[in-house]
Amino acid sequence: MMRYSTRNTGQAAVRLRGAIRTIGRAGRSSTMVVADAAGSMRRPWWESAVIYQIYPRSFQDSDGDGIGDLEGIRRRLDHACRLGVDAIWLSPIFTSPMADFGYDVADYCDVAAIFGDLAAFDRLLAEAHGRGLKLLLDFVPNHTSIAHPWFVESRAARTGPKRDWYIWRDGRPDGGPPNNWTSDMGGSAWEFDPATGQYYLHAFLREQADLNWRNPEVVAAMGNVLRFWFDRGVDGFRIDVLWHCIKAEALPDNPLNPDFRPGMGEKLAVLQHHSADQPEVHGIAHGFRRLADSYGERLLVGEICLPLERQVAYYGTDEAPGVHLPFNFQLFDAPWDAAVLARIIADYEAALPPGGWPNWVLGSHDSPRLAGRLGETQARVAAMLLLTLRGTPTLYQGDELGIGKVTIPPDRIRDPQDLRQPGLGLGRDGARTPMPWDAGAYAGFSTVEPWLPLNDDWPTRNVAVQDKDPASMLNLYRALLRLRRSHPALAIGDIAVLPSQPDVLQYLRRQDDETLLVALNLGGRPRSVDVPQGMALHERLLSTVGGPGEASALAAGEGAIMRVEGR
Ligand code: NOJ
Ligand code: MG
Repeated sequence: MMRYSTRNTGQAAVRLRGAIRTIGRAGRSSTMVVADAAGSMRRPWWESAVIYQIYPRSFQDSDGDGIGDLEGIRRRLDHACRLGVDAIWLSPIFTSPMADFGYDVADYCDVAAIFGDLAAFDRLLAEAHGRGLKLLLDFVPNHTSIAHPWFVESRAARTGPKRDWYIWRDGRPDGGPPNNWTSDMGGSAWEFDPATGQYYLHAFLREQADLNWRNPEVVAAMGNVLRFWFDRGVDGFRIDVLWHCIKAEALPDNPLNPDFRPGMGEKLAVLQHHSADQPEVHGIAHGFRRLADSYGERLLVGEICLPLERQVAYYGTDEAPGVHLPFNFQLFDAPWDAAVLARIIADYEAALPPGGWPNWVLGSHDSPRLAGRLGETQARVAAMLLLTLRGTPTLYQGDELGIGKVTIPPDRIRDPQDLRQPGLGLGRDGARTPMPWDAGAYAGFSTVEPWLPLNDDWPTRNVAVQDKDPASMLNLYRALLRLRRSHPALAIGDIAVLPSQPDVLQYLRRQDDETLLVALNLGGRPRSVDVPQGMALHERLLSTVGGPGEASALAAGEGAIMRVEGR
């Protein structure tokens, strides 16, 4: 049996302007320490782990329908192992009409037929575990598909036992929707259902009806969903839009957004003060956590898109812990500027609650491709940043190949968010294109035309080509992951951000006797490394541009990891 206890052994300190202050200490890093049967203490697995996100539709097709599937993922597990990640997170694989590509679940306890079946899932899980990989699923608690039997029953009559499992209201006296809430996908968040003459709430598509988390039966039913998969052996969950799960009870109008301009997407027309991030959501998160902890060392990652202070609240408290890792998306749209990034890192570290373990994300199936945003050179620097910051990194499939912006021809657009609000640049298909494995037909992804186009440069930008090129993005990622594994300072050590000089972001990572200096040149001019007083540069362990280089020089757009001596 495992035992868990919370521990808060350190205090935050920031090093800025001259003197070093350590901002993240290994000692305060654990939401929990784990005692094994022999009583020895160790960190939970995810603190030193790297998570790799797989978008199942686009990883590998095994049955010739142009859509990725579980058997395809199983056959490609070697890629994750050779990359050197520790855990795989699968975007939703459950039964679904796929209006939002699986984020509209019609049966939480079965696998969508296009992806396979439960037996295929069990094979994948067993093989992943056999290779030492953890497997995380994507739990979608805020809403179900309108094809879910719960909703079918709920919509059938005002008086049915499942009516209150969803959020139904009468329209306003003029017949309009009950309040002014807008859907994240555009338009009103309310859909009128003529069958019973009321509206139901949907924070996303009208095909995704919001569950009523104030109803204890919903809480119990969703707990059973988690148990179903934990009993099957999964190692944890990413929790979809956790901060949306409960709404202000009286459903008041949201304040209008004074900064809203046409062309921003209707989601932003109002401020989501009453429709999301309600105090009661922390009780829900704590319930998930208690359930997960009852299975041992299981990880919960929460999707939370909020300003820093409210985002870190999802760690919960000592008495009522929340998720282990509230996703930290701050690097997504941060200006690529050394001083800004230094500030983001320092502020985040300082905002973590005692025992809160940090995490960083740079790409996902919802955001523009990293290399498309930064260009290839800086995407390499970004990879070094992601994999050398203190905290658990999550990598998104395809970023390890440096896939850039993929333009989707209008007739191939599939993302409902783009189709509903065309021309606003909200499309997510560009981040969801199939993995290019080799230069064969359809890049080795499928034997037929894939559901989305491949990246234009797939004949040269694919796994097989990059595998053979020591200077490729893929081999840079592999080298970074190897280094993280062999230098605990990078995975679990303290961090101290150094004062930024123009274009250069520098920080120290320290664990036991080892101190490493990470210096990232975010600009296009050569710069030098600013070695902290009392320290001497020792050996260079890795550079994003390769070659030995002069120890203290940084080429344009170069990132380097160096060992330093002294304190
Ligand atoms: C966040 C998911 O990442 C996104 O793809 C989805 O559309 C929404 N949640 C709704 O479930
Ligand atoms: Mg398939």
